[in-house]
Amino acid sequence: MRHVGTLGLLGTGVIGGGWAARALHFGVDVIAADTRPEMEQWLRGAVENAAGALGRLTSAPLPRPGRLSFTTDLDAMARQADFIQENIPEQLELKQRVLAQVSRQAAADVAIASSTSGLMPTDLQRNLQHPERLLVAHPFNPVYLLPLVELVGGVRTSAATIDAAAVFFTRIGMHPLRVRREVPGHLTDRLQEALWREILHMVNDDIATTGELDDSIVYGPGLRWAAMGTNLIYHLAGGETGMRHMLRQFGPALKWPWTHLEAPELTEALIDKMVSGTQAQAAGRSIRELERLRDDCLVAIQQVLKQYNIGAGATLRALEERLHREAAVAGGSADQTAPGRD
Ligand SMILES: NC(=O)c1ccc[n+]([C@@H]2O[C@H](COP(=O)([O-])OP(=O)(O)OC[C@H]3O[C@@H](n4cnc5c(N)ncnc54)[C@H](O)[C@@H]3O)[C@@H](O)[C@H]2O)c1
Repeated sequence: MRHVGTLGLLGTGVIGGGWAARALHFGVDVIAADTRPEMEQWLRGAVENAAGALGRLTSAPLPRPGRLSFTTDLDAMARQADFIQENIPEQLELKQRVLAQVSRQAAADVAIASSTSGLMPTDLQRNLQHPERLLVAHPFNPVYLLPLVELVGGVRTSAATIDAAAVFFTRIGMHPLRVRREVPGHLTDRLQEALWREILHMVNDDIATTGELDDSIVYGPGLRWAAMGTNLIYHLAGGETGMRHMLRQFGPALKWPWTHLEAPELTEALIDKMVSGTQAQAAGRSIRELERLRDDCLVAIQQVLKQYNIGAGATLRALEERLHREAAVAGGSADQTAPGRD
Protein backbone atom coordinates (compact mmCIF):
# COMPACT_ATOMS: atom_id res chain seq x y z
CA MET A 1 0.00 0.00 0.00
CA ARG A 2 1.26 3.46 -0.87
CA HIS A 3 1.80 6.67 1.14
CA VAL A 4 -1.48 8.60 1.33
CA GLY A 5 -1.01 12.09 -0.09
CA THR A 6 -4.55 12.25 -1.52
CA LEU A 7 -7.63 10.71 0.06
CA GLY A 8 -10.43 9.88 -2.38
CA LEU A 9 -13.96 10.11 -0.99
CA LEU A 10 -16.90 8.34 -2.53
CA GLY A 11 -20.10 9.98 -1.30
CA THR A 12 -19.96 13.32 0.48
CA GLY A 13 -22.91 13.32 2.89
CA VAL A 14 -22.65 13.50 6.69
CA ILE A 15 -19.85 10.93 6.89
CA GLY A 16 -17.97 11.89 3.71
CA GLY A 17 -17.99 15.50 4.92
CA GLY A 18 -16.58 14.44 8.30
CA TRP A 19 -13.78 12.44 6.66
CA ALA A 20 -12.94 15.42 4.45
CA ALA A 21 -12.68 17.81 7.40
CA ARG A 22 -10.44 15.45 9.41
CA ALA A 23 -8.10 14.56 6.53
CA LEU A 24 -7.68 18.17 5.37
CA HIS A 25 -6.98 19.35 8.92
CA PHE A 26 -4.16 16.83 9.28
CA GLY A 27 -2.52 17.76 5.99
CA VAL A 28 -3.98 15.24 3.52
CA ASP A 29 -5.36 16.43 0.15
CA VAL A 30 -8.92 15.29 -0.56
CA ILE A 31 -10.60 14.55 -3.87
CA ALA A 32 -14.29 14.07 -3.15
CA ALA A 33 -16.74 12.43 -5.55
CA ASP A 34 -20.52 12.45 -5.38
CA THR A 35 -23.06 11.82 -8.12
CA ARG A 36 -24.97 14.98 -7.09
CA PRO A 37 -23.11 18.18 -8.10
CA GLU A 38 -24.96 20.21 -5.45
CA MET A 39 -23.05 18.26 -2.81
CA GLU A 40 -19.92 20.32 -3.50
CA GLN A 41 -21.39 23.37 -1.78
CA TRP A 42 -22.72 21.20 1.06
CA LEU A 43 -19.31 19.58 1.50
CA ARG A 44 -17.43 22.88 1.62
CA GLY A 45 -19.94 24.11 4.22
CA ALA A 46 -19.45 20.95 6.29
CA VAL A 47 -15.66 21.38 6.23
CA GLU A 48 -16.03 25.02 7.28
CA ASN A 49 -18.41 24.10 10.12
CA ALA A 50 -15.98 21.51 11.45
CA ALA A 51 -13.00 23.87 11.36
CA GLY A 52 -13.87 25.74 14.57
CA ALA A 53 -13.92 22.75 16.92
CA LEU A 54 -11.08 20.99 15.09
CA GLY A 55 -8.93 24.09 15.44
CA ARG A 56 -9.44 24.03 19.22
CA LEU A 57 -8.66 20.32 19.61
CA THR A 58 -4.89 20.76 19.76
CA SER A 59 -2.34 23.54 19.73
CA ALA A 60 0.41 21.17 18.53
CA PRO A 61 2.11 22.21 15.26
CA LEU A 62 0.08 20.83 12.36
CA PRO A 63 1.13 20.14 8.78
CA ARG A 64 -0.06 22.57 6.12
CA PRO A 65 -3.82 21.87 5.57
CA GLY A 66 -4.72 19.67 2.63
CA ARG A 67 -6.43 20.93 -0.53
CA LEU A 68 -10.03 20.00 -1.33
CA SER A 69 -11.35 19.27 -4.81
CA PHE A 70 -14.72 17.90 -5.92
CA THR A 71 -15.88 15.90 -8.92
CA THR A 72 -18.96 14.02 -10.09
CA ASP A 73 -16.68 11.67 -12.05
CA LEU A 74 -16.12 8.67 -9.74
CA ASP A 75 -13.56 7.13 -12.12
CA ALA A 76 -11.44 10.30 -12.17
CA MET A 77 -11.43 10.31 -8.37
CA ALA A 78 -10.34 6.65 -8.32
CA ARG A 79 -7.44 7.31 -10.67
CA GLN A 80 -6.07 10.16 -8.50
CA ALA A 81 -6.55 8.83 -4.98
CA ASP A 82 -3.93 7.03 -2.86
CA PHE A 83 -6.61 5.67 -0.50
CA ILE A 84 -10.35 5.52 -1.15
CA GLN A 85 -12.99 5.85 1.57
CA GLU A 86 -16.53 4.97 0.48
CA ASN A 87 -19.47 6.72 2.19
CA ILE A 88 -22.50 6.14 -0.02
CA PRO A 89 -25.93 4.98 1.29
CA GLU A 90 -26.14 1.77 3.31
CA GLN A 91 -27.41 -0.52 0.51
CA LEU A 92 -25.44 -3.67 -0.24
CA GLU A 93 -26.05 -3.89 -4.01
CA LEU A 94 -25.33 -0.19 -4.54
CA LYS A 95 -22.10 -0.39 -2.58
CA GLN A 96 -21.05 -3.60 -4.36
CA ARG A 97 -21.66 -2.04 -7.79
CA VAL A 98 -19.90 1.26 -7.06
CA LEU A 99 -16.96 -0.33 -5.25
CA ALA A 100 -16.44 -2.74 -8.16
CA GLN A 101 -16.52 0.18 -10.63
CA VAL A 102 -14.00 2.17 -8.63
CA SER A 103 -11.71 -0.86 -8.19
CA ARG A 104 -11.35 -1.12 -11.97
CA GLN A 105 -9.87 2.41 -12.05
CA ALA A 106 -7.75 2.49 -8.90
CA ALA A 107 -4.18 1.17 -8.98
CA ALA A 108 -3.66 -2.19 -7.25
CA ASP A 109 -1.81 -0.65 -4.28
CA VAL A 110 -4.66 1.73 -3.42
CA ALA A 111 -6.65 0.53 -0.39
CA ILE A 112 -10.43 0.83 -0.59
CA ALA A 113 -12.29 1.24 2.70
CA SER A 114 -16.02 1.31 3.35
CA SER A 115 -17.63 3.38 6.12
CA THR A 116 -20.52 0.88 6.31
CA SER A 117 -22.26 0.79 9.69
CA GLY A 118 -23.01 -2.90 9.55
CA LEU A 119 -22.39 -4.63 6.19
CA MET A 120 -19.76 -7.37 6.01
CA PRO A 121 -16.50 -6.80 4.13
CA THR A 122 -16.68 -10.28 2.57
CA ASP A 123 -19.94 -9.24 0.85
CA LEU A 124 -18.51 -5.88 -0.23
CA GLN A 125 -15.35 -7.32 -1.83
CA ARG A 126 -17.22 -9.90 -3.90
CA ASN A 127 -16.85 -8.27 -7.37
CA LEU A 128 -13.76 -6.20 -6.73
CA GLN A 129 -10.59 -6.11 -8.73
CA HIS A 130 -7.85 -6.86 -6.19
CA PRO A 131 -10.31 -7.71 -3.38
CA GLU A 132 -7.41 -8.06 -0.91
CA ARG A 133 -7.29 -4.21 -0.62
CA LEU A 134 -10.90 -3.87 0.57
CA LEU A 135 -11.67 -3.34 4.26
CA VAL A 136 -14.36 -1.80 6.41
CA ALA A 137 -13.19 1.34 8.20
CA HIS A 138 -16.21 2.33 10.28
CA PRO A 139 -16.04 5.83 11.79
CA PHE A 140 -18.39 7.66 14.17
CA ASN A 141 -20.22 10.94 13.75
CA PRO A 142 -18.68 13.53 13.96
CA VAL A 143 -15.80 11.83 12.14
CA TYR A 144 -13.63 14.93 12.56
CA LEU A 145 -13.71 14.75 16.38
CA LEU A 146 -14.27 11.12 17.39
CA PRO A 147 -11.07 9.10 17.06
CA LEU A 148 -12.60 5.62 16.89
CA VAL A 149 -12.47 3.76 13.57
CA GLU A 150 -13.29 0.03 13.49
CA LEU A 151 -11.15 -1.88 10.98
CA VAL A 152 -12.67 -5.09 9.68
CA GLY A 153 -11.29 -7.43 7.01
CA GLY A 154 -13.24 -9.90 4.89
CA VAL A 155 -12.10 -13.40 3.95
CA ARG A 156 -10.00 -12.02 1.09
CA THR A 157 -8.59 -8.92 2.81
CA SER A 158 -4.81 -9.01 3.25
CA ALA A 159 -3.15 -8.30 6.58
CA ALA A 160 -1.03 -5.68 4.78
CA THR A 161 -4.20 -3.74 3.87
CA ILE A 162 -5.38 -3.60 7.48
CA ASP A 163 -1.88 -2.61 8.66
CA ALA A 164 -1.59 0.18 6.08
CA ALA A 165 -5.06 1.48 6.93
CA ALA A 166 -4.18 1.52 10.66
CA VAL A 167 -1.05 3.57 9.91
CA PHE A 168 -3.00 6.08 7.81
CA PHE A 169 -5.85 6.52 10.31
CA THR A 170 -3.37 6.96 13.19
CA ARG A 171 -1.64 9.67 11.18
CA ILE A 172 -4.91 11.63 10.97
CA GLY A 173 -5.42 11.39 14.74
CA MET A 174 -7.61 8.30 15.01
CA HIS A 175 -7.73 5.18 17.17
CA PRO A 176 -7.98 2.15 14.85
CA LEU A 177 -9.72 -0.75 16.57
CA ARG A 178 -9.02 -4.02 14.76
CA VAL A 179 -12.11 -6.22 14.80
CA ARG A 180 -11.02 -9.87 14.96
CA ARG A 181 -13.98 -11.36 13.12
CA GLU A 182 -16.56 -9.80 10.81
CA VAL A 183 -20.09 -9.75 12.22
CA PRO A 184 -23.10 -7.65 11.15
CA GLY A 185 -22.89 -4.27 12.91
CA HIS A 186 -19.20 -4.78 13.81
CA LEU A 187 -18.65 -4.14 17.56
CA THR A 188 -19.93 -0.69 18.45
CA ASP A 189 -23.15 -0.62 16.46
CA ARG A 190 -24.08 -4.02 17.83
CA LEU A 191 -23.81 -2.51 21.31
CA GLN A 192 -25.46 0.78 20.36
CA GLU A 193 -28.35 -1.00 18.70
CA ALA A 194 -29.02 -3.10 21.79
CA LEU A 195 -29.39 0.13 23.78
CA TRP A 196 -31.53 1.74 21.08
CA ARG A 197 -33.90 -1.24 20.93
CA GLU A 198 -34.52 -0.90 24.67
CA ILE A 199 -35.14 2.84 24.24
CA LEU A 200 -37.73 2.13 21.54
CA HIS A 201 -39.44 -0.45 23.76
CA MET A 202 -39.62 1.87 26.75
CA VAL A 203 -40.96 4.78 24.69
CA ASN A 204 -43.44 2.45 22.99
CA ASP A 205 -44.66 1.13 26.34
CA ASP A 206 -44.92 4.69 27.79
CA ILE A 207 -42.40 3.83 30.50
CA ALA A 208 -40.31 6.94 29.81
CA THR A 209 -39.87 9.81 27.36
CA THR A 210 -36.83 10.16 25.08
CA GLY A 211 -35.59 12.97 27.35
CA GLU A 212 -35.87 10.89 30.52
CA LEU A 213 -34.01 8.01 28.87
CA ASP A 214 -31.25 10.35 27.72
CA ASP A 215 -31.01 11.72 31.28
CA SER A 216 -30.58 8.14 32.51
CA ILE A 217 -27.36 7.98 30.52
CA VAL A 218 -26.06 11.57 30.53
CA TYR A 219 -26.07 12.07 34.32
CA GLY A 220 -24.65 8.62 35.07
CA PRO A 221 -23.13 5.91 32.88
CA GLY A 222 -22.34 8.32 30.03
CA LEU A 223 -19.86 10.19 32.22
CA ARG A 224 -18.07 6.94 33.06
CA TRP A 225 -18.03 5.61 29.53
CA ALA A 226 -15.70 8.33 28.23
CA ALA A 227 -12.93 7.06 30.52
CA MET A 228 -13.69 3.36 31.00
CA GLY A 229 -15.99 0.99 29.18
CA THR A 230 -18.77 -1.14 30.66
CA ASN A 231 -16.50 -4.08 31.48
CA LEU A 232 -13.88 -2.24 33.48
CA ILE A 233 -16.57 -0.15 35.18
CA TYR A 234 -18.41 -3.32 36.24
CA HIS A 235 -15.13 -4.76 37.48
CA LEU A 236 -14.91 -1.76 39.83
CA ALA A 237 -18.57 -2.15 40.84
CA GLY A 238 -17.84 -5.66 42.17
CA GLY A 239 -15.69 -4.33 45.03
CA GLU A 240 -12.47 -6.14 46.00
CA THR A 241 -13.35 -9.30 44.05
CA GLY A 242 -14.24 -7.30 40.97
CA MET A 243 -15.92 -8.86 37.97
CA ARG A 244 -16.35 -12.28 39.66
CA HIS A 245 -18.51 -10.77 42.40
CA MET A 246 -20.38 -8.61 39.90
CA LEU A 247 -21.35 -11.65 37.81
CA ARG A 248 -22.41 -13.62 40.89
CA GLN A 249 -24.58 -10.75 42.12
CA PHE A 250 -26.26 -9.76 38.87
CA GLY A 251 -26.02 -13.03 36.96
CA PRO A 252 -29.59 -14.05 37.82
CA ALA A 253 -30.96 -10.77 36.40
CA LEU A 254 -29.32 -11.60 33.08
CA LYS A 255 -31.51 -14.69 32.91
CA TRP A 256 -34.84 -13.04 33.79
CA PRO A 257 -34.06 -10.97 31.56
CA TRP A 258 -34.53 -7.24 32.11
CA THR A 259 -34.13 -6.52 28.43
CA HIS A 260 -36.18 -7.30 25.32
CA LEU A 261 -34.12 -8.81 22.55
CA GLU A 262 -36.40 -8.20 19.56
CA ALA A 263 -36.91 -4.62 18.38
CA PRO A 264 -40.49 -3.33 18.65
CA GLU A 265 -42.56 -2.70 15.50
CA LEU A 266 -41.86 0.83 14.20
CA THR A 267 -45.51 1.94 14.18
CA GLU A 268 -46.51 5.50 13.28
CA ALA A 269 -47.44 6.06 16.93
CA LEU A 270 -43.96 5.05 18.10
CA ILE A 271 -42.27 7.17 15.42
CA ASP A 272 -44.40 10.16 16.53
CA LYS A 273 -43.37 9.69 20.17
CA MET A 274 -39.67 9.47 19.25
CA VAL A 275 -39.86 12.55 17.02
CA SER A 276 -41.93 14.73 19.39
CA GLY A 277 -39.76 13.62 22.32
CA THR A 278 -36.50 14.63 20.67
CA GLN A 279 -38.03 17.88 19.38
CA ALA A 280 -38.97 18.75 22.97
CA GLN A 281 -35.37 18.01 24.02
CA ALA A 282 -34.00 20.22 21.22
CA ALA A 283 -36.19 23.04 22.63
CA GLY A 284 -36.12 25.09 19.43
CA ARG A 285 -32.37 24.77 18.88
CA SER A 286 -31.33 23.97 15.30
CA ILE A 287 -29.30 20.90 14.36
CA ARG A 288 -26.32 23.20 13.61
CA GLU A 289 -26.60 24.83 17.07
CA LEU A 290 -26.75 21.44 18.78
CA GLU A 291 -23.81 20.20 16.69
CA ARG A 292 -21.69 23.14 17.85
CA LEU A 293 -22.58 22.46 21.49
CA ARG A 294 -21.82 18.72 21.06
CA ASP A 295 -18.51 19.51 19.35
CA ASP A 296 -17.41 21.98 22.04
CA CYS A 297 -18.12 19.33 24.70
CA LEU A 298 -16.26 16.64 22.71
CA VAL A 299 -13.17 18.85 22.44
CA ALA A 300 -13.24 19.74 26.15
CA ILE A 301 -13.73 16.11 27.23
CA GLN A 302 -10.81 14.90 25.13
CA GLN A 303 -8.56 17.59 26.57
CA VAL A 304 -9.44 16.52 30.13
CA LEU A 305 -8.92 12.84 29.29
CA LYS A 306 -5.52 13.79 27.84
CA GLN A 307 -4.39 14.87 31.31
CA TYR A 308 -5.09 11.33 32.55
CA ASN A 309 -3.73 9.68 29.39
CA ILE A 310 -6.85 7.54 29.08
CA GLY A 311 -9.19 6.58 26.22
CA ALA A 312 -9.54 9.22 23.51
CA GLY A 313 -7.26 11.48 25.59
CA ALA A 314 -4.40 8.99 25.18
CA THR A 315 -4.93 9.12 21.41
CA LEU A 316 -4.80 12.92 21.49
CA ARG A 317 -1.66 12.90 23.64
CA ALA A 318 0.13 10.45 21.33
CA LEU A 319 -0.89 12.54 18.31
CA GLU A 320 0.46 15.73 19.88
CA GLU A 321 3.74 14.09 20.86
CA ARG A 322 4.19 12.89 17.28
CA LEU A 323 3.33 16.30 15.81
CA HIS A 324 5.88 17.97 18.09
CA ARG A 325 8.55 15.40 17.13
CA GLU A 326 7.85 15.90 13.43
CA ALA A 327 7.96 19.67 13.80
CA ALA A 328 11.31 19.39 15.58
CA VAL A 329 12.72 17.17 12.82
CA ALA A 330 11.48 19.60 10.18
CA GLY A 331 13.44 22.33 11.97
CA GLY A 332 10.43 24.17 13.26
CA SER A 333 8.59 24.34 9.94
CA ALA A 334 6.04 21.57 10.32
CA ASP A 335 4.57 21.94 6.88
CA GLN A 336 6.20 18.96 5.23
CA THR A 337 4.43 15.76 4.36
CA ALA A 338 7.35 13.75 3.11
CA PRO A 339 6.46 10.59 1.22
CA GLY A 340 7.32 7.52 3.24
CA ARG A 341 6.30 9.13 6.55
CA ASP A 342 3.57 6.49 6.75
N1 LIG B 1 -24.57 8.87 9.65
C1 LIG B 1 -23.86 8.20 10.56
O1 LIG B 1 -23.92 8.48 11.76
C2 LIG B 1 -22.92 7.10 10.13
C3 LIG B 1 -21.88 6.72 11.01
C4 LIG B 1 -20.95 5.78 10.57
C5 LIG B 1 -21.06 5.20 9.31
N2 LIG B 1 -22.10 5.58 8.48
C6 LIG B 1 -22.17 4.95 7.15
O2 LIG B 1 -21.63 5.87 6.21
C7 LIG B 1 -22.29 5.70 4.95
C8 LIG B 1 -22.84 7.03 4.47
O3 LIG B 1 -23.76 7.50 5.45
P1 LIG B 1 -24.21 9.04 5.51
O4 LIG B 1 -24.96 9.19 6.79
O5 LIG B 1 -23.05 9.93 5.22
O6 LIG B 1 -25.24 9.12 4.27
P2 LIG B 1 -25.73 10.41 3.45
O7 LIG B 1 -27.06 10.04 2.89
O8 LIG B 1 -25.60 11.63 4.30
O9 LIG B 1 -24.67 10.55 2.25
C9 LIG B 1 -24.59 9.64 1.20
C10 LIG B 1 -24.01 10.38 -0.01
O10 LIG B 1 -23.73 9.43 -1.03
C11 LIG B 1 -24.07 10.03 -2.29
N3 LIG B 1 -24.25 8.97 -3.27
C12 LIG B 1 -25.34 8.19 -3.48
N4 LIG B 1 -25.10 7.33 -4.48
C13 LIG B 1 -23.83 7.56 -4.91
C14 LIG B 1 -23.00 6.99 -5.92
N5 LIG B 1 -23.43 5.99 -6.68
N6 LIG B 1 -21.77 7.48 -6.08
C15 LIG B 1 -21.31 8.50 -5.32
N7 LIG B 1 -22.06 9.08 -4.35
C16 LIG B 1 -23.30 8.61 -4.15
C17 LIG B 1 -25.31 10.84 -1.99
O11 LIG B 1 -25.48 11.84 -2.99
C18 LIG B 1 -24.96 11.41 -0.61
O12 LIG B 1 -24.30 12.66 -0.71
C19 LIG B 1 -23.33 4.60 5.15
O13 LIG B 1 -22.81 3.37 4.77
C20 LIG B 1 -23.56 4.63 6.66
O14 LIG B 1 -23.97 3.36 7.17
C21 LIG B 1 -23.01 6.53 8.85
